[in-house]
Amino acid sequence: MPQEGIGRAVQSAIYRAGAFGRRPAVPTDGTQLEPAARKVMSRRGFAYVAGSAGSEASADANVAAFDRWRVVPRMLVDTTQRDTSVELFGRRHESPFLVAPIGVLSLADDGADLAVARGAREQRVTPILSTQASVPMEEVARVLGGSGHWYQLYWSSNDHLVESLVSRAEACGSECLVVTLDTAYLGWRPRDLDLGHLPFARGEGIAQYTSDPVFRRLVAERVAAERVADAPPTARLRPTPAAVATLLSMSRKHPGNTRHNLTAPEPRAAVETFLDVFSRPSLTWEDLPRLRALTSLPIVLKGILEPDDARRAVDAGVDGVYVSNHGGRQVDRSVAALDALPGVVEAVRGTGSTMPVIFDSGIRCGADAFVALSLGATAVGIGRPHVYGLALAGADGVSEVLRNLRAELDLQLALTGCTSLADLGPERLVRVGQQ
Ligand code: GLV
Repeated sequence: MPQEGIGRAVQSAIYRAGAFGRRPAVPTDGTQLEPAARKVMSRRGFAYVAGSAGSEASADANVAAFDRWRVVPRMLVDTTQRDTSVELFGRRHESPFLVAPIGVLSLADDGADLAVARGAREQRVTPILSTQASVPMEEVARVLGGSGHWYQLYWSSNDHLVESLVSRAEACGSECLVVTLDTAYLGWRPRDLDLGHLPFARGEGIAQYTSDPVFRRLVAERVAAERVADAPPTARLRPTPAAVATLLSMSRKHPGNTRHNLTAPEPRAAVETFLDVFSRPSLTWEDLPRLRALTSLPIVLKGILEPDDARRAVDAGVDGVYVSNHGGRQVDRSVAALDALPGVVEAVRGTGSTMPVIFDSGIRCGADAFVALSLGATAVGIGRPHVYGLALAGADGVSEVLRNLRAELDLQLALTGCTSLADLGPERLVRVGQQ
């Protein structure tokens, strides 16, 4: 719907509040969110969120890729009416932003996924709920109250668990299934490795599993098998202070009474079962028809960075592709996601397909979104910035981060002579520098 966009209104609200001495809860410069969040997050929490694979060259490349593009403003265009909306799978979204799926949000704030849902709902931005969430999807869906969400799937090695997660996602109102393909194994992440910290091993970020009937059955079977074999639990914890802290964390995060969990075998068995079934490294294109048969939801493949893979995705009959290198967290020295975007867009459109091409990895401000959309992204996911907003100010922080991005993109359109996202294209940009 064309109308005066939100940019000027947000700006005025910030300046008006400033006149009364109130400052924004989060930095309005998206590049300053990370250093601000670092000051309030735990060492482990920050390492997990900010960390990337290996030398972290991929994360750096994601950001540097944006620096090679400059925007070319056009003049004397009436931009008083602006429309930043986009249609995705039959629903019009007020802005082209999505909240990218990020796991273990409890590391940033106790409100975790519920706080993100509140912030996203306030900004009418659709969140993609993570399989590694801290809160079961049904509880998050209740907070969203039908405002719309997608579900991100890690394809487990256990087929029954995949079926169960997909049917739960459908039942709680997910509009789309985003299948992450780049995480057959967790990347080599020195920041976490140096701290010896894997949140899942402490029972954090496995709430979709511990709330799942199929997963709970697997855990019960494991506990029973250990009893029959009269075997000591494979990972009995030695009573060091760190081991006690891990046991406490597992017991707190596991459903039910913490005191009971402290002596029960299930919390530890849940962690071990999760580590067994989390992913399916044997997954190939041949497996996709089975997922297609499981659900009528649109399927989007996340992690596509190569034109032939994009064409294969179209041939496989999926409904969208998602260009992402997982924020640089998986493959070191990966091609920057933005550098991969034009080739994927060209490949998809070359088949005649109009399917959405979603993008994430490196967007920090409204101008970054402008560049990605100009290079052919249909919509863009916001990853770490929303987690930093969460760490800084809970649900309000998430809302402010998303609001600022919406406002900045809207003003960027207005000031470059654009009235809608349809005006964006490569002709709005020039490429500068080497490469
Ligand atoms: C898992 O999705 C991660 O990136 O840590």
